[in-house]
Amino acid sequence: MACKATWTFSKGQEYMWWNNVETKPYGGYPQFWDARLLGMLDQAHQDAGREAIWDPSQRDGDQRPYGAYEGMTIFEAARHSEQREEVALGYEPTDEQWRSPNIYEDTATGSRDQRDLLNLMPAALPEHETWFFYLQRLCNHCTYPACLAACPRQAIYKRQEDGIVLIDQERCRGYRKCVMQCPYKKPMFRDTTRVTEKCIACYPRIEGKDPISEGEPMETRCMAACVGKIRLQGLVEVKEDGSWVEDRDNPLYYLIKTEKIALPLYPQFGTEPNGYYIPPRWAPRAYLRQMFGPGVDEALEKYSAPSRELLAVLQLFRASQTIAFRYEIIEGEKVFETTINGKKWEMFNDTVVGYSKSGKEIARVSVEEPTYIRPGKHYNAI
Ligand code: SF4
Ligand code: SF4
Ligand code: F3S
Repeated sequence: MACKATWTFSKGQEYMWWNNVETKPYGGYPQFWDARLLGMLDQAHQDAGREAIWDPSQRDGDQRPYGAYEGMTIFEAARHSEQREEVALGYEPTDEQWRSPNIYEDTATGSRDQRDLLNLMPAALPEHETWFFYLQRLCNHCTYPACLAACPRQAIYKRQEDGIVLIDQERCRGYRKCVMQCPYKKPMFRDTTRVTEKCIACYPRIEGKDPISEGEPMETRCMAACVGKIRLQGLVEVKEDGSWVEDRDNPLYYLIKTEKIALPLYPQFGTEPNGYYIPPRWAPRAYLRQMFGPGVDEALEKYSAPSRELLAVLQLFRASQTIAFRYEIIEGEKVFETTINGKKWEMFNDTVVGYSKSGKEIARVSVEEPTYIRPGKHYNAI
């Protein structure tokens, strides 16, 4: 709603939800977007006589953090499909598929892949018989954007300074190749102007130009509006080849590269999306592996019994609207002890301090939430 109220409230934008929330496994906006593309990718593999397999044993630092994908990406698969002339495999959704931004909201599935039970990972978390989870999605500002590659007008560009992918509204002629070839279906055609629009990553806020940002890079609207405090935004330095410059004290670097608890959405598509998800704990592993790649098991294992540092860094989620570029931890006392998966686990009331780009303190949060006891005289004052 924050995005809609800011950017897509005008005529011709009625159906546009640059940030949408869908209920998996049935929900999708546009409807069936992922199932449809996964099916097409599967068909292309069959036509090419190849298998799309992950080999998690072939890890190689930053280049292959979750192992090697031996299958084809949407770019390679296009050559093994009827879409040989296209840059990437894709399709253009119908108006009907765009019509319901939240179809099947809160609809659970009762099916469970029994094979998954035999394949329980070390964390051995129980899975629920019936399950659903929310997947909030916006443009991933991909490292290799298929939308950009697909546009015959070269109307789409990726900014050097922050990686934001934008459509030049003057250049766009509404060819809709971007709509067809973005695997996440995030460019949206506007009938009233005959050009395509997409999430602009709230770039004025990222640039520190929002009046309340005091010149510091600030969270986007959709992030800042998350009352569940489950979203964290950041900026990292990248090298010439697109890989990340090591920055151990950047919260995003720590969560994604060091702990690897946040994973890319459908990494097999091959665009290197820059939105990362901490996978839900109770859904079937096979489903999660298909969605987030083979890093799922390790991510869940780490998240279920978080290290002392991880537990502290997780407190930074939504602790400030200003983007944290660095964190520090001040050690506190031990406050709890238990056993998780047969291992001793201890909790410390550490304090995490977040710093802005210019080095200003922007957040100071402890692991244990402070408790405030209201004075007795206010007891019946509600
Ligand atoms: Fe382009 Fe789609 Fe990636 Fe966004 S998510 S950068 S629209 S390919
Ligand atoms: Fe909308 Fe901004 Fe979020 Fe993009 S980053 S989905 S433009 S609120
Ligand atoms: Fe290009 Fe997409 Fe416009 S393909 S011309 S940016 S509709």
